Amino acid sequence: MKISSIGLTKICFLLSVSLCIILLFLSPWRQHVLPRPLLVPACNLTCARSYLESQSEVTRLSTAAQDWKRNHAKSPANAGLKDDPRSSDHLRLDDLFIAVKTTKKYHKTRVDLLLQTWISQANKQTFIFTDYEDQVLRQRAGSQMVNTNCTAVHTRQALCCKMAVEYDKFVLSSKKWFCHVDDDNYLNLHALLDLLSAFPHNTDVYVGRPSLDHPVETLDRVKGDGSSSLKFWFATGGAGFCISRGLALKMSPWASMGNFISTAEKVRLPDDCTIGYIIEGLLEVKMQHSNLFHSHLENLQILPQISLLQQVTLSYGGPENRRNVVRIPGAFSLEQDPTKFKTIHCLLYPETSWCPQKKRLPFLT
Ligand SMILES: *[C@@H]1O[C@H](CO)[C@@H](O)[C@H](O)[C@H]1NC(C)=O
Repeated sequence: MKISSIGLTKICFLLSVSLCIILLFLSPWRQHVLPRPLLVPACNLTCARSYLESQSEVTRLSTAAQDWKRNHAKSPANAGLKDDPRSSDHLRLDDLFIAVKTTKKYHKTRVDLLLQTWISQANKQTFIFTDYEDQVLRQRAGSQMVNTNCTAVHTRQALCCKMAVEYDKFVLSSKKWFCHVDDDNYLNLHALLDLLSAFPHNTDVYVGRPSLDHPVETLDRVKGDGSSSLKFWFATGGAGFCISRGLALKMSPWASMGNFISTAEKVRLPDDCTIGYIIEGLLEVKMQHSNLFHSHLENLQILPQISLLQQVTLSYGGPENRRNVVRIPGAFSLEQDPTKFKTIHCLLYPETSWCPQKKRLPFLT
């Protein structure tokens, strides 16, 4: 009994030593393959590895970006990108193209809530991009519902497919701003118009909430020997973001007519990450960081009540975190309004027929 247990200990010891030796051998090799740490925590490991694999594509795309910039730099003030001269500086709802990304399984829950609340105030400007020809939703939203024909799975490819359709439809519209939100966002239209109006006329704007507290970094073997890196920020899609028309048109070589899907495939990035890659990485336009956009990934309970109605977007925790909702008093019970979107909506639009209380709360006046 004793002897056999000693034998076992010896075997274990020998196994541990061999494991350590193997690890020692592996580590310098690993350092050689990964010359510097890749800062891509938004993506998973597969994604980080794909950064390395896709370096030649990054090179190719960056070269294409340089060419494009050279060719367009001297064109007279980007003539085609100019806004309608009749327009005043004051932005109107009609200047916006709002894309809501959803999927079949959320039509009856999330999308219904949005149609009852903020979309009701912007139903001409809002388009619902989905993956299923839902007759009930079609009846309600008419041509504002866009069946993308993308597959209903939550994969990078399917999400990029929807973003590609959103982009193409925006380009065909004559709107000044492209704004993308998810189906779990409350979009405060007043706050959005205020924010976008603050940007100087005809400038290239990409505004949203940074997904990380540092830019995504990837090796850039274009201009040098690979010692420099390509860094870019991107706005998290789950919090919503906006792009001015001029800038959106400049994205065209990598985003229009199916090019968005192939760009995302080549760099193997998620849809929102690919937008940042094109704008910051390729076009070298800086993203405007705003903390007025909010996704379900944040702690929404800590948002100060007094500032809730100034936020551009709000969200709520999914089924895994039902308690992650904004804290705001109102006439609805938690059962009637688990997301607090109805409460928010009634504070912004107290005249809404189903709002219980027709006067504003004292702290808002
Ligand atoms: C999806 O397919 C339908 C039916 O073929 C078509 O009418 C529609 O235009 C397609 N949608 C897009 C965004 O291509």
